[in-house]
Amino acid sequence: MINIDRLWNRIERLAQIGKTDKGGITRLSYTREESEANELVKRFMEEAGLNVYYDPVGNLIGTRSGTEELPAIMLGSHIDTVPEGGKFDGSLGVLTAIEAVQSLREHNIDCRHPILVVSFKDEEGSRFGFGMIGSRAIAGTLTPADLEHKDKQGITIREAMLQSGFEPDRFGEAKINNIKAYLELHIEQGKVLESYNVAVGNVTGIAGPLWLKFKIHGEAEHAGATPMGQRKDALAAASLMISKIEKITEQYQHAVATVGSLYLEPGGINVIPGYAEFTVDIRDIHENIRNQLEQEIKEYSLQVAEERDVELEIEELQRVAPLSCSDVIQEAIKESIEESGGQIISLPSGAGHDAMQFRQISTGMIFVRSQDGISHNPKEYTSKDDVKQGAEVMVKTLLKLDQT
Ligand code: GLV
Ligand code: MN
Ligand code: MN
Repeated sequence: MINIDRLWNRIERLAQIGKTDKGGITRLSYTREESEANELVKRFMEEAGLNVYYDPVGNLIGTRSGTEELPAIMLGSHIDTVPEGGKFDGSLGVLTAIEAVQSLREHNIDCRHPILVVSFKDEEGSRFGFGMIGSRAIAGTLTPADLEHKDKQGITIREAMLQSGFEPDRFGEAKINNIKAYLELHIEQGKVLESYNVAVGNVTGIAGPLWLKFKIHGEAEHAGATPMGQRKDALAAASLMISKIEKITEQYQHAVATVGSLYLEPGGINVIPGYAEFTVDIRDIHENIRNQLEQEIKEYSLQVAEERDVELEIEELQRVAPLSCSDVIQEAIKESIEESGGQIISLPSGAGHDAMQFRQISTGMIFVRSQDGISHNPKEYTSKDDVKQGAEVMVKTLLKLDQT
């Protein structure tokens, strides 16, 4: 039913925006690249017959009326990327949702429920160390304090919103109350579907990301004149913590922890690092296990700080609870996969998604196979045929949800 050539062509066109010399895509939120990308997506939404608007925080929303007075079914994903990201993470979900609605229209299929297609603002959190800004606003979980997160230049989310022409003081108006269900299609970003040789999978739940910033205050001193036993080397302390974080986490069955960024001051070859800062991303599908791992990491790190006579400060950037997907939506997805001739594989998501913000309503996700499981990387790839199969499952699932 869907037009795969149109969908594939849109994926390629969107991928031109924010393209870097290294072959990746960098579209951080509230930047020129991201706004250009949203303007292109807006045109695609209009071609699909949607009524389109930006909400006060910059979510791009396309609406289609239903034939009955019912709450809406919301579809969506994000078009912001990590630095040097690929062309499918997020974009595929937005463009597939548009394609689903456009093909329904072309086949003269009305839905009972209104449909909302959303390109959420800043899912990745790459710019401010705080993600899912748009989906939080729509879910009503964004707070004024959240808007004070800063990027590397010291610009707050609030300021960035204003600079892009949006209205941070009206963020509360972005909340949408009347939503029946949320459905998102996304690339898997792992190797499970590939290992089963299957194109499309049903997501059971999403591991929740906990993001921490470790700030280590030592003493910047002369690298030549300070004897080894008399130093307060912030980086040496950080490196002990970082290597132990990996070791501790390896003891867990499914949990993961990643130190993804490191910053040093003053950063001179002949100066002992007086200050070190690194981020830790900790995830598990079970919140109690994630809490336990967090505790272990913090206790060990505080012990290192004491032994090394440096000061450790731990800032919490975001704590998102894991999410279980709705049984009803999972059933609809599984039936749709079966009807499409696919083998049913159900799997949890290790990556975070906007879907996590919609825990108050029924939420479901469809995964499409990622080649070699690679994501957050320019090599990210999903074949045209897999995209087609995923999009067909999405349309089928949407039609089933419309009947419930
Ligand atoms: C986004 O992709 C995340 O999982 O952090
Ligand atoms: Mn994503
Ligand atoms: Mn991502």
